[in-house]
Amino acid sequence: MREVSSGGAGWPNPRPGPAGKRAPPVRAGSGGAGRHKFGPLVFRAGSGGTSFLAILTIRKYPDPVLREMSRPVAVIDAKLRRLAADLLDTMLDAGGLGLAAPQIGIPLRLAAVDFDPGKRDPRILVNPLITRRIGRKELKEEGCLSFPELRSQVKRSPRVIFRAQDLTGKMLEYDVEGLAARAVQHELDHLDGLLFVDKIGPSDKQSLRRELAEMELAYAELHPGDRP
Ligand code: NI
Repeated sequence: MREVSSGGAGWPNPRPGPAGKRAPPVRAGSGGAGRHKFGPLVFRAGSGGTSFLAILTIRKYPDPVLREMSRPVAVIDAKLRRLAADLLDTMLDAGGLGLAAPQIGIPLRLAAVDFDPGKRDPRILVNPLITRRIGRKELKEEGCLSFPELRSQVKRSPRVIFRAQDLTGKMLEYDVEGLAARAVQHELDHLDGLLFVDKIGPSDKQSLRRELAEMELAYAELHPGDRP
């Protein structure tokens, strides 16, 4: 998910969710502060001085991978941790609140979500599953890194309880609300091939129709022969 219009109507001020049983911060691959960019590669300071990773290309609507049903992660190994690190760094580099693996072209049930954008609290969620949605759905503005120019009002539950594995394979339960709950619902939708534009009302959708058509045209020009 993408943070939009700070201070405007729509988004709540970022605040930490009341995570009931919170996981320790995910450190693997969180190449946050002190990074230096070398083209598409990023040097990760404080990681031994030899660690580089790629900022990956974020797939844009209507790339067909965004419509795939993502597969469960079967093995949490060094390769997956590397992928998670790249996902997280790509999200942070793009200024996102969340990024799901299909958005970097990998249809796996893996997502990065920043639970507290004010303080930076990025988590990696492996095989996440929402077990409860609590409260009356709220209509608030959302954006998505796969739709860089778009934003729209989307109804989401204000609080969700979900579980996910961390990068050691441990299953953790989370209880989040507000912006974090919205981001989790948005990212988990990506794992099922659902996009935020699927969830907007007909009148809002009508107003986005031209922008969506322009994105479809731009994609078709770049990928002749593909059928999203
Ligand atoms: Ni998104």
